[in-house]
Parts: sequence; structure tokens; C-alpha cells
Amino acid sequence: MSQWIKACGIDDIQPNAGGCVKIGEHQIAIFNENRETWYAVQNMCPHKQQFVLSRGLIGKQGDIPKVACPLHKNTFSLQTGEHLGGNCAYHLRTYPIRVVDQEIQICLQDESPSSSATQTTQCETQHAQ
Ligand code: FES
Repeated sequence: MSQWIKACGIDDIQPNAGGCVKIGEHQIAIFNENRETWYAVQNMCPHKQQFVLSRGLIGKQGDIPKVACPLHKNTFSLQTGEHLGGNCAYHLRTYPIRVVDQEIQICLQDESPSSSATQTTQCETQHAQ
């Protein structure tokens, strides 16, 4: 079962930047483009297992929105989590994300209900726009 869980308010994340939230055991980096399109990926960089991706620079590689790790500059697709240098071992987990009434919500699988849970419907949206 999956459910939408409140992560933070949209004003908690600077425009065109990232922020980090911790929900249960999940440390999640949230990014936005002009506060219109939102992405959520694991905060841990798979290169050296450092929890730093929320502080990475975001940009584009062609049409692909990406984040560059602030430590060694590995880059990852914010849509798929793919390592844009082609290293399949460095794949990020991505999370469905949406905005409801100025609130950023992330869909987590098999997460036990908590007081921050706002809905318990099946998650369908991959990236909020
Ligand atoms: S820790 Fe992220 S690229 Fe090295």
C-alpha cells in the first residue's frame, strides 16, 4: 500500500533549489523548477553514501532536469534517478510528489500511517507540475 504524506510547505523550499525532509527512515531531497514542477529523490548520493543531494545544483542536460552532487559532481536525472554519466550502479530512488493546497506531499510505499499522513489513496502522480 502506498500513501501520500505531507513533507513540507512549498514556501519551505527556495525557488529553483532543493531542500531535505526526513519521513520515517526516508531522507528525501525535494527540488523545484520555479515552484511549478517538483521532484523528489533520495538525499543520499550513491557514490560515497553521503546525504548531500538536496544541496546540489539543479539544471538541465538537454531536456532532462538534473541535480549535480555537491561533492564530486556526479549528475542524476530528477525524473528517473538515472546517473547521467551512464553508471547504472549510481541510480537514485525517485518518489512521486504532488502539491495540494501549498503543501508538498510525497508518496511512500508500505509506510506505516502517521499523524502527518494526509491521504491513504493509491499514489498516481509521478512529478507535480
Ligand atoms: S558523494 Fe556524490 S558524487 Fe561523490
